[in-house]
Amino acid sequence: MRILGIESSCDETAAAIVEDGHLLLSNVVRTQIDIHKVYGGVVPEVAARSHIEVINPVIDQALTDAHLTWDDIDGIAVTYAPGLLGSLLVGTLAARTIALQKNKPLYPIHHVEAHVYANFITNQANGIDLTLPGKQPSFPMLALIVSGGHSQLVFFKNHGDYELLGQTQDDAVGEAFDKVAKIIGLPYPGGPSIAEAAQAGDPLKYQLPKAKLQGRYDFSFSGLKTAVLRAVQREVGVDTTFPSFELPGRLNDVQRADFAASFQKTAIETLVDKAERAFQDYSPASVVIAGGVAANQELRRQLQDRLPIAIEYAPMQLCTDNGAMIATLGCFYAQKMPATSPLELEVQPSLSMTKTAWAKA
Ligand code: KG4
Ligand code: ZN
Repeated sequence: MRILGIESSCDETAAAIVEDGHLLLSNVVRTQIDIHKVYGGVVPEVAARSHIEVINPVIDQALTDAHLTWDDIDGIAVTYAPGLLGSLLVGTLAARTIALQKNKPLYPIHHVEAHVYANFITNQANGIDLTLPGKQPSFPMLALIVSGGHSQLVFFKNHGDYELLGQTQDDAVGEAFDKVAKIIGLPYPGGPSIAEAAQAGDPLKYQLPKAKLQGRYDFSFSGLKTAVLRAVQREVGVDTTFPSFELPGRLNDVQRADFAASFQKTAIETLVDKAERAFQDYSPASVVIAGGVAANQELRRQLQDRLPIAIEYAPMQLCTDNGAMIATLGCFYAQKMPATSPLELEVQPSLSMTKTAWAKA
């Protein structure tokens, strides 16, 4: 079964074709990072407009790269939740139109759940050159899903049969990376720029607090972000009334690197502490990390240090938003679930993963 996956929930317009839930035949990602960089974050209206401009060429390219025609495609999978309303509308409308026009089954995919399925891609063709894992994760599987919009620990008993163990009570960890980068004057997106700056920094220079929460597996990152802000203000000798956009100009590169390293260490430790606890409680057969922050080397290293089994993660290009993860989950979904009517599919911008467990039977 070959599924075309379409993704447009945030600032990447992407389409990919996956066969039988493991073989990547094409993977086209058009990122808007350069467009949003000047604003220091994603501007929803600009994102939607940009998706409209490139969605059709991106889908065409996915077919061309795979050397396939519409006759070779068995179904369309599309992100319908969660994400930016205008962005989701562009991708779903494209998918619904193709499903109607080409008479293909249509499958609605939850973006956060799909991030986990990047780990199921084990083979590639047509000149794609990614460093893929040698095998798919086994069930039961513990997934740490960490992106710009989500931070959660999910226990998967099987495909579509999962339980949300814990999640962030405020900011997502990727969002915290992005906000802290802004405070210390590093470019958007903050994740990669903090990770890079941190390489030259001292992670023990600034003592930052880890939030204590009631939920056994929950996270919180908003207090950490504020703690960085206060520490920067102290370091440069200003009070809380000082305009925060002028703070980066008061820091030198050594201080910037030390803040990046100290923040990264604490944020990653917060994730790893809870993941280790969930591992001990649930004894999963595999542990995967997924989402944009899974690209973080410090997270991979710390988690591997703490857990007795090999951590599984996808190559960097499949950790951030892409269509391949949508198509892969689409393959598994299509085996168990009926297609959705293209006339009825509606976007759900804030649907959480707890409410989408499917195929429990
Ligand atoms: O999964 P993703 O592409 O989009 C969402 O669904 O949110 O994740 C984007 C997030 C951004 O917050 C970005 O700063 C973060 O992932 N990110 C990283 C790294 N690369 C991307 N965070 C930490 N370290 C990285 N190397
Ligand atoms: Zn994402």
